[in-house]
Amino acid sequence: MRLFSLFFLLPGTFLLLSACNKTESDLRADSFPDELVSKGREVYLIHCAACHGPNGEGQNPAAPLRRDETGRYPAPPHNENGHTWHHDDDLLIRIITEGGMGDTKNFYEMPAFGDKLGNEDIQAIITFIKTLWSDEQRESQRKVTEAARSQQP
Ligand code: HEC
Repeated sequence: MRLFSLFFLLPGTFLLLSACNKTESDLRADSFPDELVSKGREVYLIHCAACHGPNGEGQNPAAPLRRDETGRYPAPPHNENGHTWHHDDDLLIRIITEGGMGDTKNFYEMPAFGDKLGNEDIQAIITFIKTLWSDEQRESQRKVTEAARSQQP
């Protein structure tokens, strides 16, 4: 009986292990196509870096979540210190296309880029931003994106 279950368990374990390995390597930052990442970086540096920092460190990396002397919150970081990775892909696309919350009393303005950038540019920027996250953050954000998409009609 014991031998019998071992016989079934072993191939299962092997399959499980190889599945895990695959997921891990798929999620590494360098697994995104180079061209897409460099295009994203290029467009990001032109349109986003002035506020969010060239490496996604945010407008005020020393205190990214604290109001400055004007009473407003600085543009948030997109790297692993920020919370951009909490948002699913479609929400990120919407924020970039339509702009931020428009609450200019409490926040600096996040402009809308829908008439400046095409879908491909926006997709490339999001891919570049994903390279700034940790493997765990990328994995979590991928799940959030899948969950959100599966709920769409
Ligand atoms: C003029 C400054 C400015 C520029 C330029 C700018 N942003 Fe923002 N962005 C902000 C501010 C301020 C916020 C937070 C307030 C809000 O959302 O209204 C924000 C919020 C965001 C958010 C949501 C916050 C988060 O952590 O998820 C995303 C995503 C974002 N920006 C992406 C971009 C991208 C991509 C570009 C370039 C195409 C860009 N921003 C250009 C100022 C800017």
